[in-house]
Amino acid sequence: MGPLLLLTSTLLSSYLHPWRVVDAQKSFTIRGITLSVEPSTDVTRDTNVTIRCQAIVSSSGHQPLSREYTIYKDGIVVYTKTSSSSEDFLYQLYNARVSNTGKYMCKVTIEGEQRQSETKKLTVTGLSPPHLHINNGVISEGEELTASCTAPGETGSIIFYFYEGSKEKREERVNTNHVEVSFPLSSSGIHKLYCVYTILITPDSIWSEKSNSVTVTVRELPITPVLEIFPLQDIYEGDRLDIFCTVKNVPRNTNNLDVYLSQGDQLLSSGITEANHSMTALAKDSGEFECRLQMGHVVKPVSKKVSVTELFSVPTLTMSPAEVFQKEPMTLTCRSESFASERLRREELTYSLDPPESFLIPRGNGEFSGKALPYEFNYTCTAQAKGIVKHSKTLTVHPRVSVSTPRISVVGKAVLGRPFQIRCESDFGSLPINYTLLENYDPLHTVIVKQPGQQALFIVTFRHPGKTSKYMCEAKNSHKDGKLSETVDITAIEPLSQPLLTIIPTLSEIAEGTNLLLICSVKGTPPVTFKIYRDGRDQPLFTTNSYDNNTSFEIRDLSKEDSGKYYFEAFNPANNVISSEHIHVEVQLAMWKKVVIGGFCLLAVSVLVVVLALFFKSKRGRETYSPPATQASHV
Ligand SMILES: *[C@@H]1O[C@H](CO)[C@@H](O)[C@H](O)[C@H]1NC(C)=O
Ligand SMILES: *[C@@H]1O[C@H](CO)[C@@H](O)[C@H](O)[C@H]1NC(C)=O
Ligand SMILES: *[C@@H]1O[C@H](CO)[C@@H](O)[C@H](O)[C@H]1NC(C)=O
Ligand SMILES: *[C@@H]1O[C@H](CO)[C@@H](O)[C@H](O)[C@H]1NC(C)=O
Ligand SMILES: *[C@@H]1O[C@H](CO)[C@@H](O)[C@H](O)[C@H]1NC(C)=O
Ligand SMILES: *[C@@H]1O[C@H](CO)[C@@H](O)[C@H](O)[C@H]1NC(C)=O
Repeated sequence: MGPLLLLTSTLLSSYLHPWRVVDAQKSFTIRGITLSVEPSTDVTRDTNVTIRCQAIVSSSGHQPLSREYTIYKDGIVVYTKTSSSSEDFLYQLYNARVSNTGKYMCKVTIEGEQRQSETKKLTVTGLSPPHLHINNGVISEGEELTASCTAPGETGSIIFYFYEGSKEKREERVNTNHVEVSFPLSSSGIHKLYCVYTILITPDSIWSEKSNSVTVTVRELPITPVLEIFPLQDIYEGDRLDIFCTVKNVPRNTNNLDVYLSQGDQLLSSGITEANHSMTALAKDSGEFECRLQMGHVVKPVSKKVSVTELFSVPTLTMSPAEVFQKEPMTLTCRSESFASERLRREELTYSLDPPESFLIPRGNGEFSGKALPYEFNYTCTAQAKGIVKHSKTLTVHPRVSVSTPRISVVGKAVLGRPFQIRCESDFGSLPINYTLLENYDPLHTVIVKQPGQQALFIVTFRHPGKTSKYMCEAKNSHKDGKLSETVDITAIEPLSQPLLTIIPTLSEIAEGTNLLLICSVKGTPPVTFKIYRDGRDQPLFTTNSYDNNTSFEIRDLSKEDSGKYYFEAFNPANNVISSEHIHVEVQLAMWKKVVIGGFCLLAVSVLVVVLALFFKSKRGRETYSPPATQASHV
């Protein structure tokens, strides 16, 4: 609602405004406006600078026009004046200062019509040297110094800095050319101070030179802290230490005094004029004690070194043997390596085991023996004398598990000439375990199993047929005797070779009705699977698993159909199939058939002879008859 109303009223007013209405009859025109800087745009400090603004206006009327001049510096209005004179407008900067540096612009407004000049930059150089003044050249420790710094004649926004040597003590920003500050000076002695200032002009700042140097003497106050430690030397652990922190030469009318007694970052005690502390000295208390007084800005410390001698060293807990097996005897020994014999007898030093409810029995002199637990356990031990107690580091005992009797097994088959593996494994036992393979009771090779899941595998190759060896393995994970597995006899399987098929009777005597014996033999290790085939058939005639390296098969009452080529195939666990030569068997006719056939032939021949004889006899009677020539072969 607000902005809308404003917009509407602005539109209305501009429409209704008189000069708008009389626009056509305007009686003047602003022809131009120029701004000049006199005597120059670059001047030194204290120059009287004039900013001249000249507006050239043509008018028809005789009434003087009311001109409003506005001077801008760096975009900000610095001066406004209304004049009815047609003379140039002058803006005076008497005794120009660095703060007058800036970009100037002039604007003229006549009856609502405006013109603005170009911008001109005025640069004033030269800052007046600052002056430092102090009201007291001698002050006491802890007192504040009051100092003032002046930038004579300067104007604008000024930052004053107070320095002691190269160290800045104070910074103060003001809009005057003078500032007064108070600050403490840290230490007694002579201090040299000066001040500088900077004037902020857009876009940078200009630094003054250094002021005069002023010397201030800070008088040391006689007040001092006193630190006393009883005793200061030959301190042993357990001794009582009394520490007093006090103050000497306290000035009268002092009300803001405090003393602090501390050791490292630990505050032991504090008070108004004294701080005491009593303690039992411990080895870790070796170091510095500090007594510090604080009075306003005055701080005075004093410190002393204390060296506390160890009564006895931190005990160490050790185990023997270094490696212990479950339920086996062990000894823990607690011992402080060194002790102050001038203060302590060995017998005064007592040792105990922590936790105290132990399965180990104290044997005196810091030794504790017993049988190891079947699980991991932790112990620390404590050495004690004259009220001083020291704990050893924790000892964690991991009792080892003895290896169990190993099992031996052959991985795969032991085939002559081919490498095979022998595995040795124990069901439990702490790693590492050394497994040793023994061949005929002689150690052959050792495998060290270090990782869970790792196997002890030994690679063996048999090179001589028919050899049988005894194998066993030993598992060992301690320095005691190892555990032995059972023995296994391993014979290498000889792959099959030299297949030989023998046929009985001899080939020429094989006739119908007789029996045929096929003998298969191979060289190699039984058991052997034999398969006897006759050519032309997929199925073997005969299959057998023989525990010998030979077999035989008989075909009874041979018939003509049993003729063919015979062979066999054989294989054993070494898994190579071998095949014999193929032998051709021809089954011949039985003897009685031959006899019958022979008889028939004889009969036929006899009949032919008789017929021929009869024929020739009849030819002599009947000359014309001739019998067919092939008749005889039909018999
Ligand atoms: C600057 O102007 C002041 C005041 O009018 C005058 O007193 C002074 O002498 C002038 N300075 C110079 C250098 O002209
Ligand atoms: C500090 O020790 C002194 C001397 O023994 C004793 O007089 C004073 O009371 C003690 N002050 C405190 C605060 O214990
Ligand atoms: C023994 O101490 C170790 C570390 O300090 C911890 O991890 C472990 O659990 C402790 N064993 C027993 C049995 O307390
Ligand atoms: C296992 O064998 C390694 C290497 O031969 C040997 O150093 C180690 O003492 C053996 N460990 C045992 C328990 O016999
Ligand atoms: C049968 O095997 C045995 C044992 O392997 C061997 O001594 C024999 O020579 C083999 N026989 C033949 C005929 O190869
Ligand atoms: C078969 O082999 C066994 C053992 O090698 C032997 O005793 C037997 O005489 C052999 N038989 C034949 C027919 O060769």
